[in-house]
Amino acid sequence: MKIDIITLFPQMLNSFFESSILKRAINKNLVSINFINPRDFTDDKHHTTDDRPFGGGPGMIMKPEPLFLAVESVKIDKSFVIFLSPSGKPFKQEVAESLSISHQHLIMICGHYEGIDERVIQSIVDLELSIGDYVLTNGALAAAVVSDAVIRLIPGVIGAGEEGIKNESFTSGILDFPQYTKPVKFRDMEVPEVLLGGNHELINKWRIKQAIEKTIENRPDLISTNDKNDEINT
Ligand SMILES: C[S@@+](CC[C@H](N)C(=O)[O-])C[C@H]1O[C@@H](n2cnc3c(N)ncnc32)[C@H](O)[C@@H]1O
Repeated sequence: MKIDIITLFPQMLNSFFESSILKRAINKNLVSINFINPRDFTDDKHHTTDDRPFGGGPGMIMKPEPLFLAVESVKIDKSFVIFLSPSGKPFKQEVAESLSISHQHLIMICGHYEGIDERVIQSIVDLELSIGDYVLTNGALAAAVVSDAVIRLIPGVIGAGEEGIKNESFTSGILDFPQYTKPVKFRDMEVPEVLLGGNHELINKWRIKQAIEKTIENRPDLISTNDKNDEINT
C-alpha cells in the first residue's frame, strides 16, 4: 500500500512513522509513506496556501489551486482520496478494515486554519473522515491516526500477533476483555483466579462476560438493550 499525505506540517509526522511497528512495516515494504507539502505547488514569492473566506468571517481557508496540484501530482486511476475533517463521516474500525482491504493507494488531505475550499471536497475527495467529535488545529494528527489503524491491518504488519487482531475491541462489536500478566500478586491486587486454572472454556466465558460488562459501562451505544440482557445471562 502507498499513502500520500498532503500536509503543511510533514515535520509533525516524521517521527511518528519512524517508530515501532509502522517503521517495521515501511522497512518490510508493506507500506510506503510520502509527504507532499502544498506550499511546493504555489507560484508566489510567499508560497501562499490560504486566503480569507468569501462572505466574511474569521480565519483563513486553504486555497484550491495548491491542493488540486498536490493531489494531481500523485493521483493515479486507483487512488482513493480522503479529506480529514471534523465534519466528515466517523472513522471507525470497520472503515479502517475496508480501506485496508480495498485500496492500494490512499491520498490524505490535511486541512489547516478554518478548513479548505469546498471545491476541493466536491471534485477530488472520495471520502471525508472525522476521527472524533472535537476540533484539532490541523489534519496531520488525524492522518496519522487513520494511517496507523489502516496499516496495522495489512497482512504481515503485526506478524506473530496477527491472531490477536481478530479478537480486539470492535471486531466482534464489543470492547476487548481485561488482560493480566505476571506477577500474580502486585501490591494488594491479584489476577482473577479463573485465569490461572487453565480451563479454557471457563476462561472464555469469563472473558466474554467481562467484555460485555465493560462495553455496557464504557460504550453502551455499541450494544442494544436486548443483547445486554441476553448475553449477560448466558
Ligand atoms: C481548525 S480545523 C477546521 C475546523 C472547521 N472550521 C470546522 O469547524 O469543521 C482545521 C483542520 O484540522 C483537521 N481536523 C480538525 N479536527 C479534526 C477531526 N476531528 N477529524 C479529522 N480532521 C480534523 C481538518 O483537516 C481541518 O480542516
